[in-house]
Amino acid sequence: MRKLITLLLSTLLLISCDNKSEKEIFINDLLSQMTLDEKIGQMNQYNGFWDATGPMPEGEYQKSRYRDLKNGLVGSMLNVTGVDNVRALQKIAVEETRLGIPLIFAFDVIHGYQTISPIPLAESSSWDLEAIEKSARVAAIEASAAGLNWTFAPMVDISRDARWGRVMEGAGEDPFLGSLIAKARVKGFQGNDLSDYNTIAACAKHFTSYGFAEAGRDYNTADTNEYTLFNTILPPFKAAVDAGVSTFMNSFNTVDEIPATGSSFLQRDILKGEWGFDGFVVSDWGSIGEMIPHGYARDGAHAAEIAANAGSDMDMESSLYIRKLDELVTSGKVDISIVDDAVKRILGVKYDLGLFDDPYKYCNKDREKNVLGSKENQEAVLDIAKKSIVLLKNDDALLPLKKKNQTIALIGQLANDKNSAIGNWRGRGASNSAVSVLEGLNSYKENKVIYTKGVDLYYGETNFFTRVDVNYNDRSGFNRARSVAKSSDVVVMVLGEEGYQTGEGRSRTNLLLPGLQQELLEEIYNVNKNVVLVLVNGRPLNISWADENIPAIVEAWQLGSQAGNAIAQVLYGDYNPSGKLTMSFPRNVGQVPIYYNYKNTGRPSKSQKVVTASAYSDVENSPIYPFGYGLSYTSFNYSDLTLSSEEMNNKQSIIASVTLTNSGKYKGKEVVQLYIRDLHGSLSRPLKELKGFEMLELEPGESKKVDFTIDNSLLKYYTVNKKWESELGDFYVYIGGNSDVDSFKKFELIN
Ligand code: NOJ
Repeated sequence: MRKLITLLLSTLLLISCDNKSEKEIFINDLLSQMTLDEKIGQMNQYNGFWDATGPMPEGEYQKSRYRDLKNGLVGSMLNVTGVDNVRALQKIAVEETRLGIPLIFAFDVIHGYQTISPIPLAESSSWDLEAIEKSARVAAIEASAAGLNWTFAPMVDISRDARWGRVMEGAGEDPFLGSLIAKARVKGFQGNDLSDYNTIAACAKHFTSYGFAEAGRDYNTADTNEYTLFNTILPPFKAAVDAGVSTFMNSFNTVDEIPATGSSFLQRDILKGEWGFDGFVVSDWGSIGEMIPHGYARDGAHAAEIAANAGSDMDMESSLYIRKLDELVTSGKVDISIVDDAVKRILGVKYDLGLFDDPYKYCNKDREKNVLGSKENQEAVLDIAKKSIVLLKNDDALLPLKKKNQTIALIGQLANDKNSAIGNWRGRGASNSAVSVLEGLNSYKENKVIYTKGVDLYYGETNFFTRVDVNYNDRSGFNRARSVAKSSDVVVMVLGEEGYQTGEGRSRTNLLLPGLQQELLEEIYNVNKNVVLVLVNGRPLNISWADENIPAIVEAWQLGSQAGNAIAQVLYGDYNPSGKLTMSFPRNVGQVPIYYNYKNTGRPSKSQKVVTASAYSDVENSPIYPFGYGLSYTSFNYSDLTLSSEEMNNKQSIIASVTLTNSGKYKGKEVVQLYIRDLHGSLSRPLKELKGFEMLELEPGESKKVDFTIDNSLLKYYTVNKKWESELGDFYVYIGGNSDVDSFKKFELIN
């Protein structure tokens, strides 16, 4: 029997070696047939340049791109979607070019293709890795049914700055949670086998430090030191590599004065060297050319030379590879081995996707018809939408709402908005396709809902390319809103940001509710104190006034296609909220960047009174709502924090335990969080770092013990020795319901 197993195993090994070499043999063989121009063509990515199923493109620019495609000088296209369009272009690549190498089709499937999930920042608040993976899976199923095989997601940039509009695309401020979410999303997009017809290649972006844009201004310089880079920024990227991500995208910004696109340290030494990443790196849109205004490249040829040598394998839309690389190789400025390596990587991903077996495998019209927007997909995004909601405040149990005999004033333009909830980066989610809050609340028939807008947040149609036209003057709806509020039992105010007020290029210097919404909120509160504030937004906002005055606050984010249903189910208690913030909410914009895992300073203080301490004179240092914070309709008690030992060496482990009790009236879920503080090290250490979490669901009165295993892997960090290692000494262990937990137990790491 044993012999048989050994035989089977070695046969399997042989088969898998064969498979590997089959791929290599195939790619090497193809490469050997390619001219230099064809190789460079594989490194060239164009945006969709005409209505693919329509007539010949017009204009010299379009025509020359079309010629490039026919001549095998294009390796990938982005923003071409839909089976007919993809098929038409693939046909040219496969049937009309000399070698017939299929194109790979990319699109920003960030939180759904047609059925839209919550924005990623919202999803991260669920802390539910399975649900997050499922959401990416649904996106992949739809995208692959629409001809696509590559998404520019997940964005795994850690960010601590809510001014930066792209926080909506990420998983928040913490590298530990961010790494787990990166893995879950890569797995969701890529499934178990990239060659399946319903999986797509993922792309970890933006490599790197993009989330640390100075002053939160998009594309700005990122000044991150080596230790911040390794301890905070890189871990989610590394996690994506470990999860088998197929591609990376570099970023627009400089890192340590060098544009990331031209950084050989990042792309060659770390990513492809130390981490052994064998997929390919695509530039960000035009970022190769942008090295010229950065003051780093002299001209286009120089930019192409730097980028190729630094390991940017594919040029998105600067056309500099296609125009300059040929000459650079001939003159020896870029070695042919660099081009060969890039092309092999790109062909490798196409191979993994199964495009050489069947270039049209993602082009099935029936699938496209049946899968997009299916009931099943809608149900999946409703599930994650509910899980993404965070209850911030609920004084006197104003929520859940009573289900009968209530008159509810529903106020705010966003309450009757079917568009904002699908947010920015909405794939091919149709405008106005979300369930609005008004529709969601109206499905509960035994109450009376009176909707009035109160005020316009914005005017007109909004889109990706223009700024939202915000109303700062027209208060004509205030009166009616006041009178509706006055005569109602409870007021639900839906305020926040229009879908295109966050995302790329949407940095803000002010984190208040935009337009006249704050003013309206205060006016309404003056006539009826029973206000439930539902926030629909894509970033942490400054809601200090609301926190002081409004009894109930629900952070509902931009929740996607099923937003209104999810919000209604939470407001009525059919779903007990369980989300926890993944970004700290500042008291005001002056505190930003603000994050829980900060360092202590030499003069730490929580008091504003001490002038010579590290404190503000006008507000406390703490955020209004810390990382990890979120309430439930029930309440939870933590007790009996214990450690199985007070010391361990780096081969041993300690069990940290706590008892969680549901002390309230409802069944509910709680994310139990483990934080560790390393008291001193070769570098100044953060006050707390998330090192584990577990979600428990308890009946009222029920208690459960939760155990976390602390081993050496949780104590390691990138030290002054430029190594991941733990250092001997004392550690504090905290377990609680958010990062502000106080009580701890101590242990020592000994030799
Ligand atoms: C620029 C963005 O930074 C990137 O995230 C996106 O994938 C590309 N544009 C393509 O749309």
